[in-house]
Amino acid sequence: MPLARSLSVTSLSGLEEWDEEFDREDAVLFEIAWEVANKVGGIYTVIQTKARLTCEEWGENYFLVGPYMESSVRTQVELIEPCNAALRRTIDKMNSSGCKYAAQCDEPPHIAAHFHEWLAGLGLVLCRQRQLPVATIFTTHATLLGRYLCAGNVDFYNNLAEFNVDKEAGDRQIYHRYCLERAAVRCAHVFTTVSQITAIEAEHLLKRKPDIVTPNGLNVKKFSAMHEFQNLHAQSKARIQEFVRGHFYGHLDFNLDKTVFLFIAGRYEFSNKGADIFLEALARLNYLLRVNHSDVTIIAFFIMPARTNNFNVETLKGQAVRKQLWDTAQTVKERFGKKLYESLLVGQLPDVSKMLDKEDFTMMKRAIFATQRQCLPPVCSHNMLEDSSDPILNCIRRIGLFNTAQDRVKVIFHPEFLSSTSPLLPMDYEEFVRGCHLGVFPSYYEPWGYTPAECTVMGIPSISTNLSGFGCFMEEHIADPSAYGIYILDRRYRGVDESCNQLTSFLFQFCQQSRRQRIIQRNRTERLSDLLDWRYLGRYYVSARHMALAKAFPDTFIYEPQEPTSATGFRYPRPASVPPSPAHSLHSSPHHSEAEDEEEPYDEDLEAEKDRVNIRQPFNMPNWNKNQTVSLPEKN
Ligand code: UDP
Ligand code: G6P
Ligand code: GLC
Repeated sequence: MPLARSLSVTSLSGLEEWDEEFDREDAVLFEIAWEVANKVGGIYTVIQTKARLTCEEWGENYFLVGPYMESSVRTQVELIEPCNAALRRTIDKMNSSGCKYAAQCDEPPHIAAHFHEWLAGLGLVLCRQRQLPVATIFTTHATLLGRYLCAGNVDFYNNLAEFNVDKEAGDRQIYHRYCLERAAVRCAHVFTTVSQITAIEAEHLLKRKPDIVTPNGLNVKKFSAMHEFQNLHAQSKARIQEFVRGHFYGHLDFNLDKTVFLFIAGRYEFSNKGADIFLEALARLNYLLRVNHSDVTIIAFFIMPARTNNFNVETLKGQAVRKQLWDTAQTVKERFGKKLYESLLVGQLPDVSKMLDKEDFTMMKRAIFATQRQCLPPVCSHNMLEDSSDPILNCIRRIGLFNTAQDRVKVIFHPEFLSSTSPLLPMDYEEFVRGCHLGVFPSYYEPWGYTPAECTVMGIPSISTNLSGFGCFMEEHIADPSAYGIYILDRRYRGVDESCNQLTSFLFQFCQQSRRQRIIQRNRTERLSDLLDWRYLGRYYVSARHMALAKAFPDTFIYEPQEPTSATGFRYPRPASVPPSPAHSLHSSPHHSEAEDEEEPYDEDLEAEKDRVNIRQPFNMPNWNKNQTVSLPEKN
């Protein structure tokens, strides 16, 4: 069956989309990963968000293979009978004789098998060792050794070419896993990774240059109303504010309407994910806001799962107290309303002094009494099992961010992924992100980094770095990323202290934006969504599969490398205007208020004349001890 490919190009908001035709009647695609229907981190997101597009292409000949996890099977999998005869036979055979392979039918289909990450790599190595007629692809989403070396405070990027890989893997007791990863890389017909920066890393640490880079996409939701995502922000923010009211009960001496929500989220890798420099920058920001007598309050959430023994009592109590206050207010309101109604029924205006009786006051006094608190609002929502050695908690202890009244920066560490069924903060992750103002992901090691990408498609600005796949990708495709709310921290050519100053500067400038400026910026951010859509990025997976089929079955398939289109090297231009810089955008009216910010329509071109976000304004900061610059071989 020769590979019939007809290439047509359609427009996708300036980007080009491929539309390939390929007879897949007798071809089958398996995609195998530990994170299929098993949420650990970003690989789950790759598989989950890409599934629809891959199904559109392969229909019923597409199969995902993952670990059997009872809870995931119950919640994420719909059990069905196999529709394909070959698969039916295979499963029967596996069931009757343990996990054995069987594709031994008369006319076997052409099989492409795409393995993700070293855990699934064993399957690939065995396919090749047993010489099965399978076209194999291996995608690495990070290198094992890279992750370990970076977490260990090694000057990673300056020494990429120098590492004695076997020794380093042995020293870290991951030699067996490293060998498995390297064998999978070596054996695969096609080897891919998720970003250019990880491609360079893989070449040095896994000793093979990836054949294709397959950047990660997302399923971009399009709303019929342009500003729907702004409404969703307001709704979700209101829910976060409600949680904050409970968490800070007795200490609500700040204006929630002038409170900015920042967050970092992901697997708990303290320095790889940049939680270390985020905390350091928050301490500096706290100092800056205080000396500048700012009326803005920052609440920084850390959503990183750690080992816990459930929620702590004080945190749960906060939500109970808030609920009690709410219930009390509702009861008094109802009693008040009833009296008012009865008074009106008999044609009298109510005697206001009698509208609240003793019982009402007692009820309210009791509720207020419950809000008295002897301790500060907790920095952590759970009982940590390794409390005394936990890196986030220890850093908070060192820098002294304890949620005191004087602190302009408050911290909440939620060491568990978010869930809509949580009794504490009943929101799923997407709702939470929508309600925040800025995602902060200052990673040192981040092959891609879905978290800032997810922010982007929801119209929430984010900070990433030029050591993350996402940050580099955005830098490559956008002329002026910060104008679009994509702040890219320089962790490549600056020392840690300098990067930390830059991060503080980003945060400080962000806090000075008015509501109106934030709204404008969110609109810009959301406009970048198309760039991250699988409809555009899925093409790299298509290419990888074609290449593998052609290598494995050269008599049947021919791989024609994709001609570069105008989408290659596509760059979003600077927007017609940029969000007004706080320093230069004073309204002409002396009574300008935040309420006006919301209502007033804005003319983007006019804004462009007025202002420019000046995020690199220098200011003096206290020094931080680590100082190490990073250089990386240029992309080839
Ligand atoms: N995430 C989540 N719930 C949370 C926090 C994070 O589901 O409460 C997800 C998030 O949506 C993202 C993934 O965790 O898709 C993290 O992926 P990323 O690529 O940023 O990092 P990784 O953990 O894979 O290194
Ligand atoms: C959205 C809503 C507005 C709301 C604003 C709050 O744009 O449509 O009604 O005022 O969010 O923005 P902020 O950045 O202050 O949370
Ligand atoms: C890995 C990386 C992350 C990436 C994800 C999906 O877990 O740490 O940066 O986004 O895989 O490719």
